[in-house]
Amino acid sequence: LRPCKISLLLQSYVLLCVDLSYKIPSNTVFLFLFSPGSSSLGADFCLHGFQHVYGLPQHTDRLRLRDTSDGEPYRLYNLDVFAADLYCRLGLYGSVPLIVAHKPDRTVGVFWLNGHTPTVSGKASYVLYGKMRRLRPQTDAQTDVHWLSESGVIDCTILLGPAPRQLFRQYAELTGYQAMPPLFSLGYHQCRWNYNDEADVKAVDAGFDRHEIPYDVIWLDIEHTDGKRYFTWDPALFPKPAALQQHLEKKKRKMVVISDPHIKVDPDWPLYREARDGGHFVKDREGQIFRGTCWPGDSSYLDFSCPETRAWYSRCYSFDKYKGSTVSLFVWNDMNEPSVFNGPEQTMPKDAVHHGGWEHRELHNLYGFYQHMATADGLMSRSGGSERPFVLTRSFFAGSQRLGAIWTGDNVATWEYLKISLPMVLTLSLTGIAFCGADVGGFVKDPGPELLVRWYQAGALQPFFRGHSANDTKRREPWLFGEEVTAAIRTAIQQRYCLLPFWYTLFHFAHTSGLPPVRPLWVEFPRDESTFTEDNQYMIGGALLACPVTEPGAQTVKVLLPGSDEVKIWYDISSAKMYKGGKSLSLPVNLDTVPVFQRGGSVVCRSTGSGTCTADYQKLPLDVTVALNSQASADGELYLDDGHSFQYRDKKAFSLRRFSMASGRLSASEEGRFDCDTVVQSVSIMGVKSKPTTVNVHVPGEDVPEMSTFNSYRGKSF
Ligand code: GLC
Repeated sequence: LRPCKISLLLQSYVLLCVDLSYKIPSNTVFLFLFSPGSSSLGADFCLHGFQHVYGLPQHTDRLRLRDTSDGEPYRLYNLDVFAADLYCRLGLYGSVPLIVAHKPDRTVGVFWLNGHTPTVSGKASYVLYGKMRRLRPQTDAQTDVHWLSESGVIDCTILLGPAPRQLFRQYAELTGYQAMPPLFSLGYHQCRWNYNDEADVKAVDAGFDRHEIPYDVIWLDIEHTDGKRYFTWDPALFPKPAALQQHLEKKKRKMVVISDPHIKVDPDWPLYREARDGGHFVKDREGQIFRGTCWPGDSSYLDFSCPETRAWYSRCYSFDKYKGSTVSLFVWNDMNEPSVFNGPEQTMPKDAVHHGGWEHRELHNLYGFYQHMATADGLMSRSGGSERPFVLTRSFFAGSQRLGAIWTGDNVATWEYLKISLPMVLTLSLTGIAFCGADVGGFVKDPGPELLVRWYQAGALQPFFRGHSANDTKRREPWLFGEEVTAAIRTAIQQRYCLLPFWYTLFHFAHTSGLPPVRPLWVEFPRDESTFTEDNQYMIGGALLACPVTEPGAQTVKVLLPGSDEVKIWYDISSAKMYKGGKSLSLPVNLDTVPVFQRGGSVVCRSTGSGTCTADYQKLPLDVTVALNSQASADGELYLDDGHSFQYRDKKAFSLRRFSMASGRLSASEEGRFDCDTVVQSVSIMGVKSKPTTVNVHVPGEDVPEMSTFNSYRGKSF
């Protein structure tokens, strides 16, 4: 337990060269396990033929990793960085030590996981130093990746793809699949530091109804507690928390409250005493309970690396212990890097001591992961294991996708921050953390109305969709900026709700095959080199291409419509106008325009309305939008289940419909059994070449009138 010394660091340096240009069967996975000694280790990888590498969240940077031969490595050390500098390679709140390299015929990954024991895995700090080298100008490219960790063992897996989809599955097999989120959590979340009291919460909730804006969850930040003691309520501001939740629950809406890992040092508070007496706190190097400063002032930090502490913490979420909590209360874990205001780099000293004698340096990047795990377990246990939990965390590590959602932390209300949210979300998605998003509007400072609208439009197209703002910003509920802004935000949120059948289906695939709902263009067009550096636009599933407006005063937006052999047609979803792929388009935009294109050859299911929240929308009929390709065919899926329980898993109570259009005939096959009232109300087909004369509907086992009608035909692009 001595701080590491530079000499040891040099002595234990390990060099590995892996030449991936050898002919190796694609199902081979290499594992390296070495123990080089007490402290510090490294490895070099030469990625032959690869010029494009991605991954290593979390940084405020572009999608493609930069050449770091300028001397500034990517650092993976979880830290609380308020309003972080942009385009910076210092680590933020969470980390995933995975890089993904791509070239037209191959995608590979290098996953650098240090672990001392199977249960205590992960490392205190990771440093990657990569550089791109051209062997012969314009021909053979090579990327050299150098990993360096402060201590631990080398536990490294090479993922061989060879295609992106296979790589996602290989990585999910190693670290886990995305948890299937409860449906409500894919709706819109309204947050602020803070909603002041019960009347404020009710007024904001009513505001959404008055302005006919759907939303699912209202959030309470640290001020809802009694003096920043988590699991309590401020008796003056929130005297009847259960009644407040029931008020929301009547409208099928939920509440999320914050629960941070630091515990106020207060011997008069039973929860503090229980944690202290149960030995649940991290110790300092002298063996005393570690104390640092955070929101409550003098605080101690729960040792989530200890299984008993996690079990104790999970029980704190049971209804009998957590007074004022109900079934519609969910949780937000923040400050769990952990943030220690008076600590080195605003975190815990590396020589603090955890369960089993492990120094904090060994576990640092796992601290938030373990809190997230204990909280998710707590929410599961309180329902006897029958309900899906929802927990948002700020700090994360490889595998956090199994536990819930993450957000990108304290961003700023500027156009640059809006723009960077796209590659940040794409990088997280590439590295398994599929349920992610950025604070809509920017947490710090006040956005102008145009920025706010654009941010809602962009946020509605990211997996986790939450508006949030700091305590010193002006109020910014969607109706406070005049009718034009309210209308634009309303439309953006309604569109999100209409697209929820598609999002939910994508989460089913993330949960079962590791495919992230949002993907860089190159994942869908792996041979199209023009897509390899694109990060202003991206794919939602395989069907939709999103290119949110991120420039102030934009009159046009440049959209790259990839064109491979299979995909030559795209349809603007707002006008149904058809475009040829393989070129860039200059699309005229106004404040209401959100450029989204549906790929020819795909089928997307939408709700025909948005309702007031996800529970409402579940009752609405669906529209099936078929976008034909040049062979007049298309495919797509729809996944449905009850949206909240595990019956989809335990009783196979789900329905997976596969739609397929070919030779003028649209058919649907079904897997699973789920009884529900969802009906298809309409089928829209884009790309029909001539006006149909009849439409026949055939439902197996049912008498359907021979001819149903079509009610609109708009030539080629209807
Ligand atoms: C941190 C969080 C932010 C939260 C604030 C107060 O800054 O990142 O989202 O509102 O703490 O809890």
